[in-house]
Amino acid sequence: MSTPTVRHFLVDTDLTQAEQAEVLDLAAAMKSDRYGYRPYAGPQTVAVFFDKTSTRTRVSFAAGITELGGSPLVINAGESQLGHKESISDSARVLSRMVSTIVWRTYAQAGLEEMAAQSDVPVVNALSDDYHPCQLLADLLTIREHKGALAGLSMAYLGDAANNMANSYLLAGVTAGMDVRIAGPEGYLPDEAVVTAARARAAETGGSVTITTDAAQALSGADVVATDTWVSMGQEDEKAQRVELFGAYRVDEAAMAHAADDAIVLHCLPAYREYEIAAEVIDGPQSVVWDEAENRLHAQKALMAWLMAASGQAEVAGIGDGARR
Ligand code: CP
Ligand code: NVA
Repeated sequence: MSTPTVRHFLVDTDLTQAEQAEVLDLAAAMKSDRYGYRPYAGPQTVAVFFDKTSTRTRVSFAAGITELGGSPLVINAGESQLGHKESISDSARVLSRMVSTIVWRTYAQAGLEEMAAQSDVPVVNALSDDYHPCQLLADLLTIREHKGALAGLSMAYLGDAANNMANSYLLAGVTAGMDVRIAGPEGYLPDEAVVTAARARAAETGGSVTITTDAAQALSGADVVATDTWVSMGQEDEKAQRVELFGAYRVDEAAMAHAADDAIVLHCLPAYREYEIAAEVIDGPQSVVWDEAENRLHAQKALMAWLMAASGQAEVAGIGDGARR
């Protein structure tokens, strides 16, 4: 029998529509049987690196790895040789011999790609400058819980449409067969390469893509409304100009009037009330942000278990061929 290829999750489109649905189904199963899955039994160790700060990602990965029978090793910026005193490729070779999965929050997407290229164990993007794919698995799980099936739903994202969340809403949304509308000011819209990848994926799934500077157009009848900070980690010096630029894309009651009456509101958090989202909306009845935050735990547990099973490195009922390394 040939050795299965190691599966990584660096960008939302690394999972096909069917695979994404399999991960979300597994997440729902894990949510209702929280301590019933132990693909990291041993305990096996998972290395979790943070080059940027975090609350949700750090806690949900640490708790999730423990609940899967493993042991999380959280390594903060400046605590390892990775990337400054030792190449990413050499680090990947060393880590692969010691841990069962590598989770990394970093700046450049290219670093994650270099890590994955040399790693014999799954590598997971825990946020880069370009994508936040784990967040989107949690968001899709939340939308499914509140709206049922994902395909055919419309989802509007407003604000900094050139950031990691905008890119991931676009790619993960169309992978699920959704009608994704992204709205932001000129100069802060998704890169052409991301839009091209999204349109290609949408053609396979029946999803669709709208990129616009018109917030009302994006919001029109939307089932899901999402936003994110206007000042991402690393952009703090640009705060004044960004607040000026993105004002027309605030998710407030006036914006929500364009969406469907039963629309739900997502925000990956941390949120800055009265900037990208009004308190009346994030703290109002349409907001599902606390479910969304909790679902980071369940979605990432499912993702890690799925990657291990699909890579032939663990047994998880119903996933892959169940081969154990
Ligand atoms: N949403 C999110 O990734 O939050 P943290 O930055 O707190 O991990
Ligand atoms: N776009 C934000 C997401 C935070 C979870 C950032 O990169 O800072």
